[in-house]
Amino acid sequence: MKIGILTGGGDCPGLNAVIRAVVRKGTFHYGDQFIGFIEGWRGVLENKTIPLDLTAVSGILPRGGTILRTSRTNPAKKPDGIEKCLATLKQNNLDALIAIGGDDTLSVAQKLYEKGGKVIGVPKTIDNDLAGTDFTFGFDTAVNIVTESLDRLHTTAEAHNRTIVVEVMGRNAGWIALYGGVAGGADAILIPEHPFDIDKVTAALQQRHARGKLFNIVVVAEGAKFAPSKDAHGTPVVSAAGKDEFGHERLGGIGSLLANEIERRTGFETRAVVLGHVQRGGTPTAFDRMLATRYGLGAIDAVHHGDFGKMVAIRGNKIVSVPVSEAIAKNRTVDQDALDIASGILEEVSGKK
Ligand code: F6P
Repeated sequence: MKIGILTGGGDCPGLNAVIRAVVRKGTFHYGDQFIGFIEGWRGVLENKTIPLDLTAVSGILPRGGTILRTSRTNPAKKPDGIEKCLATLKQNNLDALIAIGGDDTLSVAQKLYEKGGKVIGVPKTIDNDLAGTDFTFGFDTAVNIVTESLDRLHTTAEAHNRTIVVEVMGRNAGWIALYGGVAGGADAILIPEHPFDIDKVTAALQQRHARGKLFNIVVVAEGAKFAPSKDAHGTPVVSAAGKDEFGHERLGGIGSLLANEIERRTGFETRAVVLGHVQRGGTPTAFDRMLATRYGLGAIDAVHHGDFGKMVAIRGNKIVSVPVSEAIAKNRTVDQDALDIASGILEEVSGKK
């Protein structure tokens, strides 16, 4: 078979591991040939490709980013964009396309599938908010980076009797904040799912102070919001005007707003640290390399089983395939079980009963 591969949306560690696994199993076991589309759906729209063979994927397992590069191009927003993509697949004599991406990239895959495109999805996002799967690759790496950062920030916060607010990624879901915050021993975790009450946050920090703990670590997801009040609108904080082609605002800034408010209300010297794209860069953890490899193997098998319109997923440590339509129907937000873990051990978690 001749198969195309693309990586779309925000990059994340493990993309290259998926590409490598697809090409290796496809070549060794099925005798397939591959091409890569450059920069996500832009490459399909503009028919920009590179050959993908064993040499091209050699040595890429530990590399972050994606050898195919990526973009947030949305063909559905271009005149005849979906038809143009289908025409590119035909022009290249492709038997299938493997789209590696999050809900935006996979929503385009679904549109192609509905018009006859033979597409398989692979779930990717550091936010871990894609429905239909227990985990996306890239998430574990991001959590490890947050955890290591919190370990480092603890020592400097303690040395200066400071409160440090750490802003982490997580647009609609607080998985990174929650897992990173618990693993890194944060004192408060604030997630997008539950607007936080600033009075409760400061009360928790003051109680710690009263117990003799003169420093605090607060983890806040970029999509977290102040509960609506006389001086807060209860909307996420954005760092730039405008929206991307999938309608997303550029988030950022909640960390420093919160740090200022904590200092104003408590008198504790407070700093804000934004981890930003550091969470998405660099080499994947062993867990993510393994998960990405399993997804790649699952995806090439799915192509040969004719499982089109499906996304490979992990459920209970088994690789399965689920309809792409199910995966993109809604975000997988932090559930009660995860919230209970954080609530059981931390002074304050937004949404804690
Ligand atoms: O979608 C994953 C994500 O990392 C979000 O957490 C974040 O809001 C966004 O990407 C940042 O996107 P960009 O790379 O376009 O700044």
